[in-house]
Amino acid sequence: MNTTRDASALTLAAQHQLEIEGKERFGFGANWKRYLNLLDERRIGEAMASLQHFLDVKDLNNKSFLDIGSGSGLFSLAARRLGARVHSLDYDSNSVACTESLRQRFHPTDPKWTTTTGSVLESDTLPPRESYDIVYSWGVLHHTGNQWLAADNAAARVAPGGKLFIALYNDQGWRSKAWLKTKQIYNALPASMRWLVLWPCTALLWGPKVILDTFKGNPLKSWNAYSNTGQRGMSAWFDVVDWVGGLPFEVSTPEEVMNFHRERGFVLTRMRTCAGGLGCNQFVFERR
Ligand SMILES: C[S@@+](CC[C@H](N)C(=O)[O-])C[C@H]1O[C@@H](n2cnc3c(N)ncnc32)[C@H](O)[C@@H]1O
Repeated sequence: MNTTRDASALTLAAQHQLEIEGKERFGFGANWKRYLNLLDERRIGEAMASLQHFLDVKDLNNKSFLDIGSGSGLFSLAARRLGARVHSLDYDSNSVACTESLRQRFHPTDPKWTTTTGSVLESDTLPPRESYDIVYSWGVLHHTGNQWLAADNAAARVAPGGKLFIALYNDQGWRSKAWLKTKQIYNALPASMRWLVLWPCTALLWGPKVILDTFKGNPLKSWNAYSNTGQRGMSAWFDVVDWVGGLPFEVSTPEEVMNFHRERGFVLTRMRTCAGGLGCNQFVFERR
């Protein structure tokens, strides 16, 4: 068993549970558990292609890869398949269990993939500073409750010459504030009543596309194509649940993210913004 279960992991698990019970945190890991039923080779291939494209590499042979907030574990698996030595870490024990289940399923006796419970906000649960060739933290730092401390801690794990690949929610001004309120209401409701928020949000997010696709003859064209249209092997439904539920929730502008990392000695090598819209801006920085 490569999973670390020590006293600090148990304390983190208790803290995590308290945040869930206090309605301050969404249970990301429970959503990932359901998503894993959909996992297949095509989705794994999409995840690998996303890493290859953004990191501008064919493979990750002889590279070390730290996956902070590993979620389903899909990107740890993708990095391992590309040849990296991988360490996966997540705050949610269900996410850790998902990642561990992928490790057991695809690389059961592999010493080059370890998983652990940890928090990017707690330095003592993280590997030493400047120790990884690639630090990957996609869609995580804005869900910690302190995204700039999280960003600082993640960046500090990148070795000189190494790369940092992060994705952070775009700041949409009043729209982001309205989404924060929606997420708070969603999490405050008992599980059996959350559909009252989830369904109208799904209609708001997907309605226009479905109407457009209906005129083109196939109402579910975009919905069904979601997992293989540059969405990293994700699923339309589980991404909606993750978006509507995802709390804590913070946002940032591309300028803020770029300046923050420039001040810490990073150079931007690739970026994909969501053009002012809803979703994540993606960044790859290199530590010079
Ligand atoms: C939206 S998911 C993203 C998962 C994965 N990185 C991906 O790209 O599919 C966010 C993940 O961040 C984790 N997370 C939230 N706060 C964290 C923290 N303080 N430290 C580490 N992971 C955290 C959540 O448990 C969840 O699994």
